[in-house]
Amino acid sequence: MHISLVGFGKMGHVVYRTAIQLGHSIDSIIDPYSDDPLVTSKVLTAESLGSCDLVIEFSHHEGIMDRLEMYQVAKTPSVIATTGWYDKLEEIEEKYSDCEAPIIWSGNFALGVHLFFSIVKEAARLMNNFEEYDAVVQELFHSRKGDSPSGTSYMLGKILTDELSGKDSIITSRLDRKRRDNEIHISSARGGSNPGVHTVIFDSAADSVEITHRARNREGFAKGALRAGEWLLGRQGGIYTINDFMNDIN
Ligand SMILES: NC(=O)c1ccc[n+]([C@@H]2O[C@H](COP(=O)([O-])OP(=O)(O)OC[C@H]3O[C@@H](n4cnc5c(N)ncnc54)[C@H](O)[C@@H]3O)[C@@H](O)[C@H]2O)c1
Repeated sequence: MHISLVGFGKMGHVVYRTAIQLGHSIDSIIDPYSDDPLVTSKVLTAESLGSCDLVIEFSHHEGIMDRLEMYQVAKTPSVIATTGWYDKLEEIEEKYSDCEAPIIWSGNFALGVHLFFSIVKEAARLMNNFEEYDAVVQELFHSRKGDSPSGTSYMLGKILTDELSGKDSIITSRLDRKRRDNEIHISSARGGSNPGVHTVIFDSAADSVEITHRARNREGFAKGALRAGEWLLGRQGGIYTINDFMNDIN
């Protein structure tokens, strides 16, 4: 693919290296604030995008509306990995529901995480028939992470409360009481430099079934964005989520 990158920070650099390793070519790099010599323009226009097949953006939520508009003017499919604009999600989904150049967005393009969600969902569906198993979520992250629980843990809690009958409440704080039967407890530990481990445990008196996802580095996000971009090129106009892509390839 011929790719334009919008945003050339930590993730932009990883996408650049990964795309080249995978045999794609980076035609242009647009970032208003970067002085990196690889940046081809500080201004996003149809001309600075050039005649690429695809835009991948890992930038900043400010200006998202203008950038989405520009991708349509340039008739260029776009992978929106930038986060933080979800207060505009409804407006954007409505505006671009039948746009010409397809758009795919996700707050997490690491495909392993989405496979993990599907596996946990299916496991919870099976466990519903065996009431001796009780579910719990544990996560471990590096000491510099600024929040807890992680968005991924919260998603796991949501999958479990949606799928398990009798569970309808997610608890993320320490407990100074017994956990109630309707609750899923998420515990978060912080330390070291671990980029993120999530485990869902289905525990019974006889044994324990544990499903774990371990992140290793940022490459997973880059590879997922590139895979989703390849998929997007064959799609009609409109706005897609990563679930559309995952469901289509499964
Ligand atoms: N969806 C995912 O899988 C995923 C994974 C990691 C990070 N992210 C998100 O991607 C974004 C970038 O992450 P990062 O770690 O590279 O951050 P970063 O701060 O290292 O880089 C952001 C870059 O965007 C540039 N930028 C700012 N405004 C811009 C604009 N209007 N147009 C183009 N570029 C602009 C900045 O100059 C900077 O170089 C964040 O929103 C982050 O949350 C998403």
